[in-house]
Amino acid sequence: MPKVTFLPDGNSIEVAPGTTILRAAQQSNAQVGFACGGNCACSTCHVYVKQGVESLSEMEEDEEDILDKAFDVKPTSRLGCQAKVAKEDVVCEITRESRQAWFDEHPEERAKLKAG
Ligand code: FES
Repeated sequence: MPKVTFLPDGNSIEVAPGTTILRAAQQSNAQVGFACGGNCACSTCHVYVKQGVESLSEMEEDEEDILDKAFDVKPTSRLGCQAKVAKEDVVCEITRESRQAWFDEHPEERAKLKAG
């Protein structure tokens, strides 16, 4: 089964082919935001794919449209809720925007960080 790894923390998990990057993030407790609940409407699940881009499902027009609204988009950008993993391992870097959204959705984790 392909392994998905999330940088910078290094969370990783093996998933069944066809699993989205967002689902893999949730299963591995990686800090990938999902403000719209994975419905291709918010861009908070934006990640940079560092390895395994050829293993991901093709980008469709809906994803392109939403990525246009994201911050700091690069050629390696994908929306975690739309990109599905095939057979090869994938390594992603979580964007600042996405991590910020994750903390907004998990205020208790932000409080823990502040408490040190
Ligand atoms: S979770 Fe909103 S676009 Fe992916």
